[in-house]
Amino acid sequence: MFGKRGTAGQGQNGTRNSVSMDQSRAPSQEPKQPVDGEQPTQPVANAQPATNENPVKAEPLRKPVAKERLQEVKVGIFNDLIEAVDLAGLSKLSDESVREEISDIVSEIISMRDLVLTTQEHTQVIDDICNDVLGLGPLEPLIARDDIADIMVNGPDKVYIESKGKIELTGVKFRDNAQLMNICQRIVTAVGRRVDEASPICDARLMDGSRVNVIAPPLAIDGAALTIRKFSQDKLSLDDLVNFGSISKEGAELLEVASASRCNILISGGTGSGKTTLLNCMTDYIEPGERVITCEDAAELQLKNPHVVRLETRPPNLEGAGQITMTDLVKNCLRMRPERIIVGEVRGPEAFDLLQAMNTGHDGSMGTVHANNPREALSRVENMIAMGGFNLPARAMREQIASSINVIVQASRLRDGSRKITHVTEIVGMEGETVTLQDLLTFDFLAESEDGKIQGEHKATGVKPKFWDRARYFGLEAKLANALGLT
Ligand SMILES: Nc1ncnc2c1ncn2[C@@H]1O[C@H](COP(=O)(O)OP(=O)(O)OP(=O)(O)O)[C@@H](O)[C@H]1O
Ligand SMILES: [Mg+2]
Repeated sequence: MFGKRGTAGQGQNGTRNSVSMDQSRAPSQEPKQPVDGEQPTQPVANAQPATNENPVKAEPLRKPVAKERLQEVKVGIFNDLIEAVDLAGLSKLSDESVREEISDIVSEIISMRDLVLTTQEHTQVIDDICNDVLGLGPLEPLIARDDIADIMVNGPDKVYIESKGKIELTGVKFRDNAQLMNICQRIVTAVGRRVDEASPICDARLMDGSRVNVIAPPLAIDGAALTIRKFSQDKLSLDDLVNFGSISKEGAELLEVASASRCNILISGGTGSGKTTLLNCMTDYIEPGERVITCEDAAELQLKNPHVVRLETRPPNLEGAGQITMTDLVKNCLRMRPERIIVGEVRGPEAFDLLQAMNTGHDGSMGTVHANNPREALSRVENMIAMGGFNLPARAMREQIASSINVIVQASRLRDGSRKITHVTEIVGMEGETVTLQDLLTFDFLAESEDGKIQGEHKATGVKPKFWDRARYFGLEAKLANALGLT
């Protein structure tokens, strides 16, 4: 069954394949020295043909595997296993059956390779291999931790995490790139995709909803890069953001009024600044009776609203067909009698369709956009519309933007790792060719404490918002006045 093994499964670091390499060695070759070079270690396999007369090679037959070689043995067994079974197929079976299956095959490999393992080593090899096949191998402990927002794997030897806003290197390592690729493969197989040299970029999702991106060699030069945005079951609320100091209590009230009085809202921010989280928080104030349609690339939002239709884009299949873009979804939304449309991330020509929707009776629609300040958010939207090939003069485009969006909320991840809402800004109208903005609330930086924490405060600018009448219509005038200190 394993006779087809040859050079396949050669690792990148040259330390693998003790099993298969030993078998193909010339009889005169010396046994491998241990990594630390102190005690000579016995070869892990009976690598010699029966006719071998070399006493050094013939003798070590039934000796237990030295501890430091166990890892190499595992690599060898694992490589044999990959060749012997269809791991993607295995993932469809129950955990119990997979464990049994693997246990049988591994035992067979061990006996075919004439490896000698103690019972404990045998069990450990099977456990580790099952973890690789069933779970996420070395990533499992990180996945289990609640305090981690992102896991970033840069090749087999470097795994970073983001915890409490700070990025740090962990001690987690993969055996080699093959193990890392195998785990990437498992993740993407679960969503019916494939990652290899031919299609090296892939988005997927873990069972718990975490968002995953894989980019494999040769595009990722130092080994596969895997990025996981952990899905938190307990979504943060505006109250949580107030407790974290991301926004003041009054600021949170302002956001609540903007959402409840059906302003069209654009949430702007950099990567991982908390845009999606904020969008989710703002949807808490949508009236339960309103029909909401969400469009996302990978469903992350968790709306409490009972009347929600959740839509997700679809990448092209392996033949390059069947793609459903965000524009397709937003366009289709309009035929679904939505009251509000929520777009997880606006990043292309769908911006135009969303603005149209905002302008045509779907008040209270929202979306996020990647930008570093409210003004930049507007030029991003402008560029996205231009990308879609809409040949509108700049002025017409800006008028469209100014008449559709009411409020821009800016989220930022500051250099101390904290996430803050730095601006709540309103679009007032046009002056000549320029869209006019007015800040309603800003975060004013005051100082940096000794432990590197940024201190500052959220301050209302004292401006009466343009959406005042709208808030009054929804009975929220007093709350708005209070939030802005205008009483
Ligand atoms: N105000 C906050 N305080 C603390 N943690 C936060 C805050 N906002 C978001 N987070 C956490 O930060 C991480 C990233 O948040 P989120 O997914 O909302 O960012 P994003 O801007 O949408 O990222 P991306 O650009 O990748 O889409 C999540 O783990 C989230 O729980
Ligand atoms: Mg997001």
